[in-house]
Amino acid sequence: MIPAYKMERQRYEFEIAHAENNFLDETSTHLHIDKSLIKDMFDLTNKKVLDFGCGSGGMSLWYAKNWECEVQGFDIDRSYIFLANELQNKLKIPNAKFEQRNIVENPLQSDEKFDFIFLNDVAEHIEFSILENIFIQLKSSLNKNGKIFVTYPPWRSPHASHVTHVTKIPWCQYLPQKMLYRMIEKDNRVLGGEIENTLLDAYHGLNRLTHEKLSTVVKKAGLKIKYRKSHSLLSRIPGMDKLSNITPFNFLVTKEFLLLE
Ligand SMILES: C[S@@+](CC[C@H](N)C(=O)[O-])C[C@H]1O[C@@H](n2cnc3c(N)ncnc32)[C@H](O)[C@@H]1O
Repeated sequence: MIPAYKMERQRYEFEIAHAENNFLDETSTHLHIDKSLIKDMFDLTNKKVLDFGCGSGGMSLWYAKNWECEVQGFDIDRSYIFLANELQNKLKIPNAKFEQRNIVENPLQSDEKFDFIFLNDVAEHIEFSILENIFIQLKSSLNKNGKIFVTYPPWRSPHASHVTHVTKIPWCQYLPQKMLYRMIEKDNRVLGGEIENTLLDAYHGLNRLTHEKLSTVVKKAGLKIKYRKSHSLLSRIPGMDKLSNITPFNFLVTKEFLLLE
């Protein structure tokens, strides 16, 4: 029985399938570059891992399945935590735990320490006014040599609006906002979240994150950027990577990857 705040059966099945795809798929989901970079860069064996903003848990369970590690998934939205627990029961992966948590109201404690903290496609959804507080807390919950890995689509990117599958217009975030709202409202799909329950809520929830904004926040939080990769539509063309962060080529960057220490 699915409690009322959670969702209708059809939505539940869609969300579980989506989360399972995020867990299973190594090549075609929006997470495939994240997964290959994480595999190349990190060994999570015997580590304590926090998947911050874990959503429905596909990536948390992917860490837990691929390494003998202890994974904790936090998300502010209890509906996503419900889905993550359901997916975990379905996949029978024991070494992960999920918790609905708003760390601004219920801060991380001194005994909550992690070796790796991942924010996959989360930073652009966090209310900008609390982003610094969150990074300060995450920094202080790192074990010695601990690392934070952040991935997100920067605001200039073609799909940063998160609604191009409905509008069919890349960079539609730059359209007059009333026009864009009308386009989204025509197909304002229900999502799996309780807080952001529709596509329009999700669009409103975006903080329009850019590398410039995020690097200011992480520096203020006392973190250093140790590595940056900007994945661009041009990344397959040899030599083009160097141009990624120069206007107008920066509008072709689809995802940013940052390692913070
Ligand atoms: C696009 S989803 C990404 C989920 C997951 N990381 C993934 O890669 O599939 C963004 C998630 O960030 C969560 N979120 C937004 N603000 C948050 C906050 N302040 N604390 C924790 N989670 C937050 C949302 O509830 C949502 O589940």
